[in-house]
Amino acid sequence: MISDSGERNAAWVSQFLASRRSTRDFLPTPVPQEILDQILTDALTAPSWSNTRPFKIAVATSEVKERISNEFLSRWGVLSKIMRKGIRNKLRLIFTRYGLPTSNRSIIKPYAAELKPRAQRVGKELYELFGVKRGDREARDKQWGKNYSFFGAPVEMFIYIHKSLHLYAASDAGLMMENLMLSAHGYGLGTCAQGAVNIWDDVVRREFEIPKDYRLLCGLAIGYPSGSPVNSFKANRIGIDELLFKPKES
Ligand SMILES: Cc1cc2nc3c(=O)[nH]c(=O)nc-3n(C[C@H](O)[C@H](O)[C@H](O)COP(=O)(O)O)c2cc1C
Repeated sequence: MISDSGERNAAWVSQFLASRRSTRDFLPTPVPQEILDQILTDALTAPSWSNTRPFKIAVATSEVKERISNEFLSRWGVLSKIMRKGIRNKLRLIFTRYGLPTSNRSIIKPYAAELKPRAQRVGKELYELFGVKRGDREARDKQWGKNYSFFGAPVEMFIYIHKSLHLYAASDAGLMMENLMLSAHGYGLGTCAQGAVNIWDDVVRREFEIPKDYRLLCGLAIGYPSGSPVNSFKANRIGIDELLFKPKES
């Protein structure tokens, strides 16, 4: 940040970055269109591979958002129940197919051993805060299901990437999303990226003109945070020691 005196206030920037946290309980208060436009404009100041901007966003509000949410909740109701119950129910799901993922299945794949403890830690700490007891699959699924009402957010964005650029499209979208989330944070808005929604892309396609070349990367809930303690959750940060590869010993 450049202060009035023209000095770079690096400490303020570090503090601002550290103060952004995922919001998982929103007020229904609408987000003014001019603020949405500004944060989208800020999103586009991110760097991009050959300036291609290989992503597009479907912005769902009001009835469109409600229709998508209702279908997600209905599918989640079927999928979560059947995954908890016996083999016969699982076979029924395979037969009827309703509720099965129709797109990106990465969220239902197991984590690699190296990454699993981090995911387990955030899951455990979050569910403790939500009051979900260990092993209570039903309560856990109910909590996860809140993803499908977008945690009550008035705006849900669906981020799509152009398939031709593979990894770089996802990386560009990530850079763009972080700009968007930080800009939203600056306006007092909360955000939560949502991989949870990327399993039923067909539901989003019913509402928006989305060419085949675009793949759903994830959702992004945006709105004003409620005072719920859930929004004070501080996910662990790994240290830079874990970030860096060790140099080879000579
Ligand atoms: C691509 C992506 C997908 C995510 N998907 C979900 C999700 O489906 N549901 C959820 O509650 N949080 C989701 N998150 C939020 C992460 O859990 C969160 O960013 C992480 O625990 C760090 O916490 P912080 O954002 O508060 O710093 C996602 C984050 C990213 C970047």
